[in-house]
Amino acid sequence: MALYSEKVMDHFTHPRNVGIIENADGVGEIGNAKCGDIMKMYLKVEDNVITDVKFETFGCGSAIATSSMATEMIKGKSIDEALKLTNKAVAEALDGLPAHKMHCSVLAEEAIKAAVKDYYDRNGIAYDKSQFPDEDCPHCHE
Ligand code: FES
Repeated sequence: MALYSEKVMDHFTHPRNVGIIENADGVGEIGNAKCGDIMKMYLKVEDNVITDVKFETFGCGSAIATSSMATEMIKGKSIDEALKLTNKAVAEALDGLPAHKMHCSVLAEEAIKAAVKDYYDRNGIAYDKSQFPDEDCPHCHE
């Protein structure tokens, strides 16, 4: 069996939603403690719905593929739905990732959460802090 699914290869070679959003409503940047790679996620939000999302990464192929899939999965969805997206759901949507690359998928999930938190902070919206990774140690809860 090939190490990577066709969907992973597709999203890695043709990543969706790569880039930046000028005047984004929320921006999140996360580093992966396991490998040092970084991910930046930009959100445009209207009426609690994510109308646009883009990402930039300095990460591996699995990080690119999971971020690409994750952005497709949250585009047009409400913020609440986006916050429920787990790295496992993204990996499943890609027909799986090798076990030793699962940590790469955490980058996308946490960058989305960080961008939503930034959106909440900018707009003075109250939120439950436990929904978000601890900023000082984003990977302790893996
Ligand atoms: Fe760093 Fe995959 S090895 S994100």
